[in-house]
Amino acid sequence: MRPPDYREQITLAGTPITVRTLWPEDRAIEEAFVRGLSPTSRYLRFHSALPALTPEMAERFVHLDYPDQMALIACVPDGAGERQIAVARWARPKGDTAADLGIAVADAWQGKGLGTALLQRLLRIAERAGVEQLAADVLYENHRMRALARDFGFRLAPHQDDPHTLLLVRQLNDRQ
Ligand SMILES: CC(C)(COP(=O)(O)OP(=O)(O)OC[C@H]1O[C@@H](n2cnc3c(N)ncnc32)[C@H](O)[C@@H]1OP(=O)(O)O)[C@@H](O)C(=O)NCCC(=O)NCCS
Repeated sequence: MRPPDYREQITLAGTPITVRTLWPEDRAIEEAFVRGLSPTSRYLRFHSALPALTPEMAERFVHLDYPDQMALIACVPDGAGERQIAVARWARPKGDTAADLGIAVADAWQGKGLGTALLQRLLRIAERAGVEQLAADVLYENHRMRALARDFGFRLAPHQDDPHTLLLVRQLNDRQ
């Protein structure tokens, strides 16, 4: 199903930012965003040295089948168009109650509250969509993501198979 058309203007660090639904026509700005992340940020997000999205990933990342998938992006004006500076998404395998959370903020924007602003909005939309649980694997050394998750009431548990990874879990719809 087509995702809800979310759109909001916010201001962070004195800069007007549009927070909105990611659409299939955003493929180029989504690819440019991932390519533009530092190797460290890409590694923290994808847990691999991936230099850019593969064509298959790019296709999958912008074609959202709501309510199993949803993504919000943050954009700033760039010439006649927009530049993506962050994304937060969930993807729930068919038939599962738990969805995987993915979030990334452009390096120059990290630590300014943008991850917080996106996650706040994504959680609200996920609750409305009937997502029961959000979960993410986070590398142990990813203190910023761990802090962000803690602020939002995620539980942190050791990963069953990997001592370098923690599992973040947050129940939604008050079923804590
Ligand atoms: C993790 C990430 C999404 C957080 O987004 P962000 O915009 O940088 O985070 P915010 O500015 O909203 O800060 C969130 C919290 O992180 C903590 N934080 C901020 N800067 C920090 C730093 N330098 N070191 C440790 N914690 C820090 C704070 O607790 C902050 O909450 P506060 O409001 O109490 O200050 C972002 O840093 C990122 O994209 N990292 C690379 C990709 C990644 O790790 N993705 C997550 C994969 S699971």
